[in-house]
Amino acid sequence: MPPAVQPIRVLVLGASLRRDSLNQRLAALAAEVVREKGSTADLANVGDFDVPFYDQDVESESGLPPGAQAFCKRVKESDAFMIASPEYNASIPGVLKNLIDWVSRSRPQPFNGKQGFLMSASPAMGGGNRGLWSLRVPLEHLGARVYPDMFSLAQAHDAFAANGRIANDLLQKRFDDTIGCFMDLVEAAKHYPGLKKQWVEFLGERPTAETDRVETSETAAA
Ligand SMILES: Cc1cc2nc3c(=O)[nH]c(=O)nc-3n(C[C@H](O)[C@H](O)[C@H](O)COP(=O)(O)O)c2cc1C
Repeated sequence: MPPAVQPIRVLVLGASLRRDSLNQRLAALAAEVVREKGSTADLANVGDFDVPFYDQDVESESGLPPGAQAFCKRVKESDAFMIASPEYNASIPGVLKNLIDWVSRSRPQPFNGKQGFLMSASPAMGGGNRGLWSLRVPLEHLGARVYPDMFSLAQAHDAFAANGRIANDLLQKRFDDTIGCFMDLVEAAKHYPGLKKQWVEFLGERPTAETDRVETSETAAA
């Protein structure tokens, strides 16, 4: 008999603090699509994880603040993550980068080996896509498997229907199908975890105790 299929759990994060955030709407829609496909979505907002500016002195004295610990826990409890992030000045919003920096200090490092999907929404024609290329960099540095396709909703102030879905049916279908492809990959990664994985933060540097940050399959799975 084939093994019972466990539902996939996906953390879906909106990365804008703004009350009427377009990106939070996109995150909510992504969570709905994940649920429609039979999986579990854990919808969150970056404001749920209130942390001070990263300061290594604060970390040395007090460890990770509660907001960072809570976010680490939510990432670790998930098989994958999705982030809908605004583009600020063609790059990543500071509040999101700050949270990633805090999380990167946790061991085992939660992003290592996680499948990730990036989205953005902007009133501009580019949909905030340039910001996602910036967001990809720290996440890939931390060992996340960031999906090649990224969904950037252009003219987002005009793109949603009253029911929260994308007004253009074909665009909504592309959104659904892309998330479906991502979920297939997450499922494959969850059920076939036999691949050896390692994360060496500064691969190619002469190994020293001071700079080495290494995780292998065994420690990453903890
Ligand atoms: C500081 C700042 C910088 C911005 N830079 C960009 C940008 O580079 N590209 C872009 O498409 N939109 C830019 N915008 C507009 C945002 O895309 C727009 O405010 C969007 O609604 C923010 O996302 P949210 O609705 O989820 O809060 C910027 C907005 C702010 C406040």
